[in-house]
Amino acid sequence: MLRLAILVSGGGSNLQSILDAGIGGNLKGVEPVLVVADRQCPALDRGLSAGLDAVLLDRKVFGKELSPELDRLLEKHRIDIVALAGWLSILDAQITQKRAGRILNIHPSLLPSHGGPGMYGLRVHEAVLAAGDTESGCTVHLVSQGVDEGFILGQFRLPVHKDDTPQELAARILVQEHKLYPQIISELAVSIG
Ligand code: GRF
Repeated sequence: MLRLAILVSGGGSNLQSILDAGIGGNLKGVEPVLVVADRQCPALDRGLSAGLDAVLLDRKVFGKELSPELDRLLEKHRIDIVALAGWLSILDAQITQKRAGRILNIHPSLLPSHGGPGMYGLRVHEAVLAAGDTESGCTVHLVSQGVDEGFILGQFRLPVHKDDTPQELAARILVQEHKLYPQIISELAVSIG
């Protein structure tokens, strides 16, 4: 069983979906053991409530030392796979190269559209609507040094409605994120495990 760390900065609904998928249930080949947050957030509390090791590495305290400190933490917990789930800090090449092929991210659009630095939260969905896209969705990809640029492992597509607000689109996509992410994490774990 590979050891999974989940990195968070926000609400933690994707973290929850991974935990709810359940080891040996829909979550295969991998065991969540560590939650890391770069700021105080509800996701950190979800990790604690689930009985996992949950560590705050405050980005304001660690600054440029955040990635080296994270690296030490991942080593200490013997982490095999890292899932970014709403994590907002950019990881140094030190980590992305060392763990290449073993760090995943989920993004709420059909990458390569509407990704990159600063594209997170409602901004993504506002951009989709402003572009007049008829389709959006979510993407799980490997993390490389370029933001939202790594190899795409899986996507879910859904139609954009004419009268959608950014909030409505975000909510419909989030439901699908919760199904897609545990599935792709499992596929990766089984393939490298
Ligand atoms: C999700 O939309 C995810 O795609 C993006 O950040 C959001 C995190 O939501 N990377 P949550 O914290 O998992 O609820």
